[in-house]
Amino acid sequence: MKIAFVSTECVPYAKTGGLADVTGALPKALEKLGCEVKVFLPKYSLIDESTHGLRYNWDVGEIQIRVNGVVHSVHLHQAKLPNSNVEVNFIGCPHYFNRGGIYTNDIDEDERFILFSKGVIETLQRFRWAPDVIQCNDWQAGLIPLYIKDNYSWDKLFDNTATLFTIHNIGYQGRFPKSTLLAAEIRGDLFYPDGPVEFKDTVSFMKTGIVFADLINTVSNKYSHEILTEEYAAGLHDTLRARKPDVYGILNGVDYSEWDPEADRFLPFSYSNKDLSGKLKNKKFLLEHFNMPFDENVPLIGMISRMVLQKGFDVFADALDDLLKLDAQWLILGSGEERYENLFRSLAKSFPQKVGTYIGFSNELSHLIEAGADMFLMPSRYEPCGLNQIYGLKYGTVPIVRKTGGLADTVKDWDEEKHHGFDHGNGFSFYDYSSYALFKSVERAVNTFKQKDIWQKIQLNGMKLDCSWKKSAEKYLELYKLAKEKRG
Ligand code: ADP
Ligand code: GLC
Repeated sequence: MKIAFVSTECVPYAKTGGLADVTGALPKALEKLGCEVKVFLPKYSLIDESTHGLRYNWDVGEIQIRVNGVVHSVHLHQAKLPNSNVEVNFIGCPHYFNRGGIYTNDIDEDERFILFSKGVIETLQRFRWAPDVIQCNDWQAGLIPLYIKDNYSWDKLFDNTATLFTIHNIGYQGRFPKSTLLAAEIRGDLFYPDGPVEFKDTVSFMKTGIVFADLINTVSNKYSHEILTEEYAAGLHDTLRARKPDVYGILNGVDYSEWDPEADRFLPFSYSNKDLSGKLKNKKFLLEHFNMPFDENVPLIGMISRMVLQKGFDVFADALDDLLKLDAQWLILGSGEERYENLFRSLAKSFPQKVGTYIGFSNELSHLIEAGADMFLMPSRYEPCGLNQIYGLKYGTVPIVRKTGGLADTVKDWDEEKHHGFDHGNGFSFYDYSSYALFKSVERAVNTFKQKDIWQKIQLNGMKLDCSWKKSAEKYLELYKLAKEKRG
């Protein structure tokens, strides 16, 4: 099976969130199952060519691509995903990708990903390589299913190429003014109220992907049902319901070569489910790093997150007065909305013994917090999958989560499971999106922490779970086959 995997983030080159982890891992797991996978990524200027061994592809040379009536010269660099044979293709166009970050608020944000999408298709043409499936991730790749079926349908190369549209987050939809139709060379007759590319008088890349892809999937089973409802679909529930039989959910996996406390290169002390003593040493190391006192009997609660509404920061902020009264310490790593960044900066100043904050992005620190914390909080309003709680399980860092999306699919509440006669609970969870419900489950976790033997049981239940990519990659393979059948 030949797969083109189109994404705007990939570890180790460019990352803002979980999409990067998925792109850096799923293609490798697919390769192990016998697939030939080519990853496609924009060549952002922040990607250092020499660090990552990127090579210019002379055979492809320069490709001329028109966006918004202007022809741009596009070139290709290539590298291999570390520890694999998976080829990564970097679509280069300095005019669009030499910017401060991966995503921007610039007025040509639509053009950046129009160029990327066309760049992917035209590179495939230069390769004369017809994928069985093009997996298009999130709105930035949402035009590709339409392009394959319409703008590039003249090319017989793609006659048997199916498209799979993968929704990692329906909250970000890529909506632009009507003028984008021209910039993207989308047929004007596709734009009318409730038409295939129209959403509330804007051109929606997300909707376009949903309408034109052969199949659609999201990154957990629960979220695949949630996005059919008004509450979770951010306006696209009717569009998704119209395609209900074609919507699937496949839970993300974990790349244990990156996220395993036994082999994590960022940890001063390694540990495993056979011997947890290294975990306590990491906790001490981490607290010293933040100039905070260490007491093994006081639980340390970690958070690593984009600081946005999706992640539950409003209810978290409302619960803080009560949470800070608990006998616990907090370490918060993240960046995002200024009001939350300022809130946590000032908390760390007011409660230096209790709260440590790092505002910014630090991969190393994220590994240290996963290892050194006793608990991990994710009170998300919605969560398509969520990776940190799954990393937390492996690291014996007990997750406390709101029961939504992938959080509900991966975290089993200790008390609830016991109530049902099981003892395989691996965390704590709450249903209501409220500061009270959040507080009550953190309080439950903090109280349970005092019972050392029970706590260790909860930790081990999580650490023993196998959430590797293999199982999920097998499900993707089945989905690719279905997508091919649909394409006929
Ligand atoms: P999302 O993709 O919605 O942000 P996920 O839980 O799927 O949520 O993935 C988030 C990923 O980004 C994890 O690998 C997490 O460790 C990482 N991450 C988020 N914020 C930071 C940060 N400030 N510094 C380092 N890593 C971060
Ligand atoms: C999105 C979601 C997150 C998911 C990640 C990778 O960013 O917010 O829940 O884990 O994509 O699929």
